[in-house]
Amino acid sequence: MTKDTFYITTPIYYVNDVPHVGHAYTTIVCDCLAHHHRDRGEKTFYLTGVDEHGQKVEEASKKKGVDPKRFVDQVSQKFRGMWEEMEIANDHFVRTTDDYHKRTVQDLWKKMADKGDIYKGEYEGWYCIHDEKYWPDNEVGKEHLCPNPWCNRPLERRKEESYFFKLSKYQDKLLEYYEQNPDFVLPSFRMNEVKSFVKSGLRDLSVSRTSICWGVPVPGDDNHVMYVWIDALTNYVSGIGYDNNRERFDTFWPATVQMIGKDIIVFHAIYWPAFLMSAGLPLPKHVFAHGFWNSEGQKMSKSLGNVVDPKLMIDTFGLDAFRYFMLREVPLGLDGDFKLKGFVERINAELANDLGNTLSRTVSMTKKYLNGQAPSPTPEEDNPFAAKAKETIELVRSHMDGFEPHKALVATSEFLRLANKEIDTQAPWALAKDESKRPQLEALLYNLLETLRVLSVLLHPFIPKAATGIQTQLGMTEANFSWDTLGTWGGIAEGQAIPGGKALFPRVDEKRVAQIEEAREAQRAKAAQEQAKAEPKVEAKDDEAGAGLIEFDDFTKVQMKIGIIKEAEKVKKADKLLKLSVDTGEMRTIVAGIAEHYQPEELIGRRVVVVTNLKPRKLRGVESQGMVLAAKTKDGVLRVLGVDDIIPAGTSVS
Ligand code: ME8
Ligand code: MG
Repeated sequence: MTKDTFYITTPIYYVNDVPHVGHAYTTIVCDCLAHHHRDRGEKTFYLTGVDEHGQKVEEASKKKGVDPKRFVDQVSQKFRGMWEEMEIANDHFVRTTDDYHKRTVQDLWKKMADKGDIYKGEYEGWYCIHDEKYWPDNEVGKEHLCPNPWCNRPLERRKEESYFFKLSKYQDKLLEYYEQNPDFVLPSFRMNEVKSFVKSGLRDLSVSRTSICWGVPVPGDDNHVMYVWIDALTNYVSGIGYDNNRERFDTFWPATVQMIGKDIIVFHAIYWPAFLMSAGLPLPKHVFAHGFWNSEGQKMSKSLGNVVDPKLMIDTFGLDAFRYFMLREVPLGLDGDFKLKGFVERINAELANDLGNTLSRTVSMTKKYLNGQAPSPTPEEDNPFAAKAKETIELVRSHMDGFEPHKALVATSEFLRLANKEIDTQAPWALAKDESKRPQLEALLYNLLETLRVLSVLLHPFIPKAATGIQTQLGMTEANFSWDTLGTWGGIAEGQAIPGGKALFPRVDEKRVAQIEEAREAQRAKAAQEQAKAEPKVEAKDDEAGAGLIEFDDFTKVQMKIGIIKEAEKVKKADKLLKLSVDTGEMRTIVAGIAEHYQPEELIGRRVVVVTNLKPRKLRGVESQGMVLAAKTKDGVLRVLGVDDIIPAGTSVS
């Protein structure tokens, strides 16, 4: 029987940034899924890499006064080094400056051109000479000043020759594809967003530039380099051998799942499939967009100085603890909040206590009562442990297939809970005092040892080092995470020496936590100082008066404040309504018609704009004390308005 193949990818990260917890998250999620499928015996390929072309990199290298290639050689190493340190088991690391990659991009371009999907035209837009950059029309204000707050210079309307990709031609084909493959984009609420975006109309895409040189040249026209996204997206096929390893390419393409953050959905769920259709290649089976991590309730940003440094976390708490937290804390697809306190609590409760203590108790009882040797295997029939093992294995399999790793961890925790309940009710310390209870004692300890073996295999993708540690403590001479033997009850051999070892996850030391908090406080203070120095002065401009306008005093009647959403839940029997608890300086309940656009969990922690002096209104029996501002397109996409930065709840908006 041939086993399935599993090909998983991360986005290729921009090298002009340093790896932070967001990049680490995507990379860990993919590593976990790749481990899991490898353990199941599937032919697996895991690809990650870096995005090295484009204007930003060109500018950054200019600033440093080095050649762009030298520059990317150095900075791409930061990512590669980070993944090595995190023991990420990727099968290849693709760089867009690799020759096979550039050849692939040019080949794909030719295929799209042969199809008649690329034509030469003119690109027109607002151009900043200083920044050498076009700004999209919707980001440019009435005064036509550069939106970069550090620049603010007048923009120039410019035209340049550009190649275009006929994206408009693919609008109906894409919609048809989405209909036939409703799980192409996951989670499903993202599929709806993508559909309404495409339905609202696709315009042809400018796919080349004459104003930059750092990129892949357009075949047959060296004046143009390709738009970075064509270049970048192609990594998913170049990285498995489109150009240099055809056999591998044929084995693994189309990808099983392309994991991305929610920031780059349009590129992966719309542009990429259109490019592939044009080039005559099959589409990936799934594009999965996960959520974003905030830090202690705020968006992570350099200027706030609250970026979580994965290196610091790993050095302090260990790689497994970090992986476990990221994978367990947030359902894949939703936003998460990295709270140090929550992190420490979870590690202490679930790893140090539940898992670590069960192992150390089991091992020490085996030593104390059975001379450190495994008793004879228990039967599988009528054995609650064996039954639970079977159930847990199937749950883990299906949750991992459904891209719900946190649920897989809930299932393994349940199994541990059963084991601990049995220890408490059977009280092995009492059984040990009564020679006639010896068979029961042996059966219980065997069941516990075997439970830990099964759990070590199931947990291997999540906490690889600890999983190996468990097996070593159980006396397995060679680590074995294969699912071929996982489900056969009786894997621990009779008489097997159970050596035990050090605590798997020592409880987190409060002193270390305090040190980290101090370091973070310093980081925040430093960022605030730098921010104060760099703050640009924004001058308010008077607007022209005209018909249909209101007096300033009319406007000031509307009282608006920044509110932080603390709780969100669906209103019973009302499909469109969410009931929100919002902190606007004081807590208030607001009923908002946004249930079709947001998962309640997604909203928690958001800073929104609230009209606070509306007369209260009852909706479905709930009194709504205000209104959350939102924007809605004619195609029905709705987003709440908010602020990204730390503006305290209750701050007036004017
Ligand atoms: O967009 N929370 O690269 P990039 C969770 N080069 N994930 C986060 C995150 C956060 N706060 N911040 C970043 C690019 N990420 C392009 C991609 S692919 C053909 C080209 C993760 O360096 C998340 O996976 O900006 C997001 O999609 C990615 O980093 C963006 O990385
Ligand atoms: Mg980005």
